[in-house]
Formats: sequence, C-alpha cells, structure tokens
Amino acid sequence: MTSTEQNRRKYDALADRYEEIFFYVADMGRELVDYAAPPPGARLLDVGAGRGAVARAALARGCAVTAVDASAGMVSRLAADHPEIEAHQRDAEALGFPDGSFDVVTAGFVVQVLTEPEVALTEFRRVLAPGGVLALSLERQTVGRLAWLHDLNREFFGGGSGAAMTAEHLDALLAGAGFAAPVNVEVDIPKPLPDPAALWDWLAPRGVAEAVDALPTDRAVTFRERFFRGAEEMHRDGGIVLEFGATLHKATAP
Ligand SMILES: C[S@@+](CC[C@H](N)C(=O)[O-])C[C@H]1O[C@@H](n2cnc3c(N)ncnc32)[C@H](O)[C@@H]1O
Repeated sequence: MTSTEQNRRKYDALADRYEEIFFYVADMGRELVDYAAPPPGARLLDVGAGRGAVARAALARGCAVTAVDASAGMVSRLAADHPEIEAHQRDAEALGFPDGSFDVVTAGFVVQVLTEPEVALTEFRRVLAPGGVLALSLERQTVGRLAWLHDLNREFFGGGSGAAMTAEHLDALLAGAGFAAPVNVEVDIPKPLPDPAALWDWLAPRGVAEAVDALPTDRAVTFRERFFRGAEEMHRDGGIVLEFGATLHKATAP
C-alpha cells in the first residue's frame, strides 16, 4: 500500500471525529486565513481541507472557496456540512485545475503528511495566478515538560525522534518550488488538562491505547503504571499542559 493510500485510509477513519480529537485545528484555520488575508471575493483553494477548518474561515471572509482532500470520508463530511464550498476528492500532487485558477491556496497541517511535498508545492504554484498567495501551517514539535512522556514512548515503542518537517525545511521547499518572499510566524496553542486521566483520554485515541494493547501483558501493565506515575508528578508540579505550537507560512507565486 502506498503512503498516499495509507493516508487516505487513516483520514477516512478519522473523518467523523477529526475536529473533536484535534481541538486546535478550528482556531488555527482562522489564524491561517487571517495570515493569508484574502480580500472578499478572492478565489481560494484549500488543499487537504479535512473537515473544513481553513475553508470555512475563508468562507466567513467572503472568499469563493474550493476545497480538496484525498480522503473521500473528509470530502463527504465537508460537502454535507458546508454546501456553499465546492468540494472535490483530489490529490494535492495532481490537483487537476487549470493553471492560474486561484488567487490564494491554503493548506492547514498538510504539507508534513504528504509523500512528496515538493511536488505538491509546485502544483500549488501552478494553480495560483501570478502574484497569488500560498499560506500553510506546520505543527511545531514542542516537547517541553512532556519530555518524560516522549521518553516513555520511545522506551516502549521505539522511534519517536523521527524527522518532522521544520519551518526552515518548509521555507527551503517553498524557495525550491519557485515561491518568492517566504515569511513565517510562530503561534502557541497551549491546552491545559484537568488531571492524569484526561491526558490518557487525549492520547488513547491517537494510537497509544492500540499500541499498549499490543504489548505483552506485563509490559502493558508497566507502561500504564509509569504513565500514570509521570502524569501524577506533572499534575502536582504545575499542572498538565499540552504545549502545541505551529508556524504559519506565507509566500507569493511569481
Ligand atoms: C492533518 S489533516 C488537516 C485537515 C485540515 N486542513 C485542518 O486544518 O483541519 C491533513 C489532511 O490532509 C489530507 N491529505 C493527506 N494526504 C493528502 C493528499 N495527498 N492530497 C490531498 N489531501 C491529503 C488528509 O486526508 C487530511 O484531511
């Protein structure tokens, strides 16, 4: 199975609870559209639109919005929730729109999940009119006081230090795709949680419960014990906060 196909299946399975699990995407969608600052009436294409966090913010600013996503599940939810948005199932790397069709292209938390982001960026440039704006958001890895949890995950499940795309890497990809004047800004999105159980409830649907269930029983018990011990300590010592961060990127098509 290709990673594009794996992505499609992953997001199909998530479609009905995506914005409930990833609580920050709605706010970040508004932030990204404010950063792009499209004038009312701008033709805006939102790529990897998911449930429409970015697309509906663009609609609220008076843009003519087209949204595409590789996942059929996401597209059908978005089309049902927002009939004013023209929604299509399309691949970011082969959008199928004529050259210069849009004034603005947005993609919220998408480039880092693509198999070939450089191909997609070239495609975004192709569908933008000269002088058009591309606006992207990228998750920023902020470990902070959750270092104990990252270490625990790495000890039990390995990996964990995988090469996430950085803001510098994305700016280099933008320049390589021929975009001019890339700029970016950092945004923090802290999420305080009330207690250790809430931290478990946050992680469980993100693959952790499944991974723990797949461990031999004694390892699974040890993982849970150490997880709750670490979470209790954090709770006592200043409270549990998920420290999310993102960078918003903007560049211009030549
Ligand atoms: C992290 S979600 C972001 C969704 C939305 N932009 C938001 O901010 O809430 C990534 C989205 O990209 C879509 N996606 C992944 N690979 C894609 C591809 N090759 N072409 C188009 N969409 C893709 C997924 O289906 C998913 O909806």
